[in-house]
Amino acid sequence: MKIASVVGARPNFVKMAPIHDAILASGNEHVIINTGQHYDYELSDIFFRDFQLPKPDFDLDVGSGSSCFQIGEILKRLEIHLAGSNFDIVLVYGDTNSTLAGAISANKCGIKLGHVEAGLRSFDITMPEEHNRILTDHLANYLFAPTKNAVRMLKGEKVGGQVFYTGDLSVEIVAKARLIARNSDILHKLGLKRRNYFLLTMHRASNTDSREDLLELLKTIKDLETEVVFPIHPRTKKAFQEYGLLNELSGFKNVRLVPAIGFIDFMALLENAAKVITDSGGIQKEAYILKIPCITIRDNTEWTETLSGGWNILTGVDSKNIIKAIRADNVLLKYKPFAFGNGNTSHIITDILTSIT
Ligand code: UD1
Repeated sequence: MKIASVVGARPNFVKMAPIHDAILASGNEHVIINTGQHYDYELSDIFFRDFQLPKPDFDLDVGSGSSCFQIGEILKRLEIHLAGSNFDIVLVYGDTNSTLAGAISANKCGIKLGHVEAGLRSFDITMPEEHNRILTDHLANYLFAPTKNAVRMLKGEKVGGQVFYTGDLSVEIVAKARLIARNSDILHKLGLKRRNYFLLTMHRASNTDSREDLLELLKTIKDLETEVVFPIHPRTKKAFQEYGLLNELSGFKNVRLVPAIGFIDFMALLENAAKVITDSGGIQKEAYILKIPCITIRDNTEWTETLSGGWNILTGVDSKNIIKAIRADNVLLKYKPFAFGNGNTSHIITDILTSIT
């Protein structure tokens, strides 16, 4: 079998890594097509290095731009590789612009499409990721749903493709990264002690595009007694700069501002943090798997499993709510160990792929 993966952004690379290994282990061929949506070393190449992935077979070098620009350019540039090709299946991952563009291209070029991480919904129709998820799910022939909720969602929406419950890739990704993260010296480099800091990430357009939200975040973290480590996404840095707030943030004595970092160092930081404050989808799950209390600075989440037992608290970007969640006692929280499957998802997906074609 010849399987192609279309990836382009940080979370796509992370999810593709175990699938790549599983496809090769099954004796099949895997071709990696990188759209280039993320092009900075810290958002792209470092993930190939961290997961020991080969260089992509094809680079489309699309780069930054509006969603229309990115999706349109990927469609044009991808057709050359997909039309008339002998791929048995194209895989796309998650909910980025590269995911949707890969899905449309495969569909228009008459190649079967598999969606890894299908069926997630936040019900926030203002999120670009929500549009990407819904559209991709309705184009896919094979939908790999990470949770039982996702399966229910897809059945409820009567998608045309075949739905499979597979568990979530995060379980095996986190397990592998944790082992490698033992060699990470990031805590030492930053002079941090286990459970003595909060980890903060923020990059969602809904947060970065609002000056009020950035001001509210500054107000929240300014007076925290615990140190805050903030690996800053280029989009977020640009937003702080454009709103004239970067100097204020850089001046906070209790905030350690560092550039976006690779997955292994990030795992080391997450696993040793007291709590994590984030608007990322993936980090909510990773925190749950590592049993790190998570504060999600959004009003909704597609990963509702993480809310159970209070492991994840939705606060929006609201200073009072965030402080309350920071102070919440997390000692006796109930935990569901298999909320995201048994850690065998990449093999389950590969077995399905090899049996359906
Ligand atoms: C994208 C995904 C989001 C994912 C996130 C992880 C979409 C719609 N969103 O958001 O789901 O959680 O990646 O990082 O696909 N930029 C750089 N360097 C880069 C890439 C981007 O400086 O390597 C800057 C550019 O100014 C760009 C902006 O970040 O315009 C936004 O990048 P984009 O790829 O549109 O979305 P992300 O915010 O990264």
